[in-house]
Amino acid sequence: MAKQFQAVRGMNDILPGESALWQRLEASVREVLAAYDYREIRLPVIEKTELFARSIGEVTDIVEKEMYTFADRNGDSLTLRPEGTAGCARACIEHGLLHNQTQRLWYAGPMFRYEKPQKGRYRQFHQVGAEAYGMAGPDIDAELICLSARLWQHLGIRDVVLQINSLGSSTARAAYRERLVAYFAARRDELDEDSQRRLDTNPLRILDSKNPAMQAVIAEAPSLLDHLDSESRAHFEELKASLSAAGIAYDINPRLVRGLDYYCKTVFEWVTETLGAQGTICAGGRYDGLIEELGGQAVPGVGFALGVERLVAMLAATGQVDEPFPHAYLIAVGESARCHGLALAEHLRDQLPTLRLRMHCGGGGFKAQFRRADHSGARFALILGDEEVAADTVAIKPLRAAENGQTTLPRDQVAAYLRAAMLAEQP
Ligand code: HAM
Repeated sequence: MAKQFQAVRGMNDILPGESALWQRLEASVREVLAAYDYREIRLPVIEKTELFARSIGEVTDIVEKEMYTFADRNGDSLTLRPEGTAGCARACIEHGLLHNQTQRLWYAGPMFRYEKPQKGRYRQFHQVGAEAYGMAGPDIDAELICLSARLWQHLGIRDVVLQINSLGSSTARAAYRERLVAYFAARRDELDEDSQRRLDTNPLRILDSKNPAMQAVIAEAPSLLDHLDSESRAHFEELKASLSAAGIAYDINPRLVRGLDYYCKTVFEWVTETLGAQGTICAGGRYDGLIEELGGQAVPGVGFALGVERLVAMLAATGQVDEPFPHAYLIAVGESARCHGLALAEHLRDQLPTLRLRMHCGGGGFKAQFRRADHSGARFALILGDEEVAADTVAIKPLRAAENGQTTLPRDQVAAYLRAAMLAEQP
């Protein structure tokens, strides 16, 4: 029978079997961000459409064709956020968080882009973003990169390469843009349709083209790094020196231009070859003009966002995280045992806050309940029948082959038994 309802294309359910990996990632992210004293900010999923047009840029792919935009009942044009930087900047301006102070912030949550779904690219996806405001020097750029590197280490993720580039100041970039347009215009017939269109709208993005037929003409194009203003050049040199001093390897990729318009100076991406075509797991850069563009004071900003689905896919490949099984499964056969079972379960949870205890609900005989206990993956079955209730005892049956046979204990000794077993289990 055809299923009547399915999730919207490109929007995924994260099933219980996968959520342990997500939790592992989220726990590491929180720990590492705290180690650098970044504080969490929680932002709405919907913003005014104009915010994204202004910040990400009118002629970017995101704003031109990927936003989920709708009119609300009031006729206001709203958009499901395609990224978090714009909303974070908006919130900081709105709440005066940038007056004479620096901020180190992070956020996490779903983002929405109407892209062509494929492995690693979804229409609802999740990011963790970190943004730092009020610091103009390359030291904070380097800190953000160190923070991300530490996160990979924490997660046991290898096979990622850091690519960095500098986009220079907006004036230097405007001059470079003219040279680039002149270069590509003279070779218009070598450009694919997309790049011909971009020549008039967003020529730097041509450098980012993955079309193999275009690689030769791109390779010969003037390099952005040869056209940096002196301040951006010094910023980039110091960033490179800081990364080297911190032992962080990087590749300079002069074609790294990013798909959002707000960047200047530093841009970077962490890329892996293990995920196929969608190999960028984390990306960001400096955006010194954004706050002013959105109506705030001229406050510099820099940040990154990582793609949670892509990182989870890498974590899954390392096979490090097992789905947690319950420690114990409580079997209760008979009405009186069911009542006592609930009380026993609550008692054990009071005594052992880290105990994972699954109580059998829904009735059934001993055999059926025992089968469920076995399937649950639990280490012990705790068994309560009429006999045990009358004697105020609990039968405990180890469910793993290596452990000794069944034993019966007074009810008030069960917690101590389980505590000892759980301690023995710890690595
Ligand atoms: P972005 O490069 O558009 O940058 O996205 C950052 C990361 O989000 C990507 O590297 C990728 O891992 C993940 N991502 C993006 N789109 C998708 C998708 N459709 N499906 C799955 N994952 C995806 C930004 O969003 C900037 N706001 C980053 C930033 C923060 N720059 C400064 N601060």
